[in-house]
Amino acid sequence: MTPDDRADNIAIDGIVLMVVALFKERGRMQTYHLRRYLAGILVLIGMTLSNGRIHAAELTGTWIINVQDANTPNAQEVVLTFTNENGVMKGVMNGTSPLEDIKVQGDQVSFLVALGPPGSPKIPFAGVITADELQLKVPLTPDGKLTDVVARRATADEIAALQAAKIPKLPLPPIRDVPDNGLASTPPMGWGSYNRFGLTIDDKLIRSIADALVDSGMRDAGYIYLELDDGWQGERDSNGVLQPSPKFPDMKALGDYIHGKGLRFGIYSSPGPKTCGGFIGSYGHEEQDANTFAAWGADYLKYDWCTAVNIYTTADEMRADYQKMGEALIKTGRPIVYSLCQYGLFSVWQWGAKTGANLWRTSFDIKDNWESISAIGFSQNGLEDYAGPGHWNDPDMLEVGNGGMSTEEYRTHMTMWVMLAAPLMTGNDPREMTDETRDILLNREVILVDQDSLGRQGKRIMERGAIQAWAKELDDGSVAIAFFNRGQDSEQVTVKWSELNLVKPKAVRDLWKKMDLADVTDTYASELPSHGCTLLKVTK
Ligand code: GLA
Repeated sequence: MTPDDRADNIAIDGIVLMVVALFKERGRMQTYHLRRYLAGILVLIGMTLSNGRIHAAELTGTWIINVQDANTPNAQEVVLTFTNENGVMKGVMNGTSPLEDIKVQGDQVSFLVALGPPGSPKIPFAGVITADELQLKVPLTPDGKLTDVVARRATADEIAALQAAKIPKLPLPPIRDVPDNGLASTPPMGWGSYNRFGLTIDDKLIRSIADALVDSGMRDAGYIYLELDDGWQGERDSNGVLQPSPKFPDMKALGDYIHGKGLRFGIYSSPGPKTCGGFIGSYGHEEQDANTFAAWGADYLKYDWCTAVNIYTTADEMRADYQKMGEALIKTGRPIVYSLCQYGLFSVWQWGAKTGANLWRTSFDIKDNWESISAIGFSQNGLEDYAGPGHWNDPDMLEVGNGGMSTEEYRTHMTMWVMLAAPLMTGNDPREMTDETRDILLNREVILVDQDSLGRQGKRIMERGAIQAWAKELDDGSVAIAFFNRGQDSEQVTVKWSELNLVKPKAVRDLWKKMDLADVTDTYASELPSHGCTLLKVTK
C-alpha cells in the first residue's frame, strides 16, 4: 500500500463512520440539515486530506542547499531528503543527520536538525515551500539572527549523481591511546589565514604574511606558527599524492621560506573526502597526506571534521578517525602539533588528547563580533580541568584587528583568551596593524598569562549581574584575575579580595595599564566600560 492509498483508505473509513453516525441521528434531523452537515464534513475531510497529501508530496524528495559565501567560493552542497513513510514525514540531512519534528501546515514547513551527537543543540529550520524551493530561515550565528537559506529541488541528474557519488565507509582502527607527542607545552601561538582571508590565499600572500610577522614583532612575541588554513589544495596526482593548487607552485619552498623566517609552518586538511571549503580532504589518504605534509616541512596540522560527518556519525567513529591521523603524524617522525577542529562535538575535551591531539576546538566558528566572542568565551567555564601542558581547549582563532569590534571589545577578547590558556592563533592582517591592535596582540605581560608554564585554564569565580571575575593560577604562585563587564553600560566594580578567596595581596599589577597599584587595600575598585575588562596579576 502506498502512502497515498493509505491516506485514501483512512479517508474512506472516516467518511463511512461519519455517515453511519449521521444516519443513526436521521430521525431527529431534517433532510436539509442532514445534507448540509454531510456536505460540510466532506469538505473538511477533503481539505484535510488534500493539505496533507499536496504538501507531503511537495516536500517529499531531494532538496539541495548551495552553501556559498565570501569565505567559501567553492560551493558546497547540503542535501535534504524527505520521505513519506506510511503517512509520516521523515527526513535526513546529508544522508546522516536526521531531521526531527517535521511539520507541514499549508505552505509552511519546519523541522529541527541535530548536527551533533545526541544532546547537542538542535537547529530549527522554518519557512515556506514554493513550487521548487524551500525558502528557510535558520539561526546560524551565535547571536540567533536568522539567515535566509534556500533549498532547491534536485534535478533527476543531480539525484543520480548523488547516488553515484556515495562514498564507501572505510574501516577505522580500533580505539587506543596515542602516546603524547611532547609538543605544545604551552598553548600554540601564531597566525591562521582563515578569519581574515577565507579561502583566497596564495603563495605571495603567505610570504608577505611571514615577512610581516617578523617585521611587526609578532614572531618575537611568540606568534610562531603560520598556518595555511583551507584553500591551498589542488588535486591528487595519479599516485594519490595531494598536490597544492597552482596558487602554491612549490609548497616545500614555501615551507623553507617560512622556516627561514624563524617561523613554523602549519597546514590544514579534513578527515572527510572534502574540506569545509569544498577542497580535497584526506579521507582514505591519511598516511599519504601526513607524509606529504611532513615532506613539505609542516610543523602543525589543523584537521577539520567537515564532510567526515557524512560518513562517520558516532563518538567512537569520530575518535578513531582522529586517532588515524594522530598515528599517521607520529609515524612521519616529524614533530607536528595536531589541532582537532570538530567544534566540541562529543565532548572532545574528554578524549581529544588520546587521539594524539595537542588542541581541540570547543566551539563552532568564531565571528568578528561581540555576540560571537562573548558567547564562545564566557561559555568555556567548566572545561578548565581538561586543559594542561600538551593539550589545550581551543575556543577558535582570534579576531583582534579585523574591524568588527571596538578596541575595548578586542581587549576583552584577548583577555578572555589568555585567561582560558587558549591557543593564540591570530586571524588579522599583520601587514596593516593599527597601534590599538599592536597594543593588544603584543602586550608581553598579557601574553605571559596565557603562556604560563603551569598551564592552568582560568575559571569564573564571581558573577554579579553583568560583572564576572575569572581567576587563573600562575606558576610563580601568583594569580591572574580578570574582571569583565558584559553589560551595555559602564559599571563600578568594588570587590573585597576576601570575596575572591584571596587575602589582602602583597602586590597588584594592572597588565593592560602596565602599572602596579599604588595602594593595595582590602578592596579592589575600578570603573569598567561596557564590554570592557581589567586584567590583574595578583601577588599573594
Ligand atoms: C571550518 C573551520 C574554520 C575554517 C573553515 C575553512 O569552518 O571551523 O576554522 O578552517 O572550516 O573552510
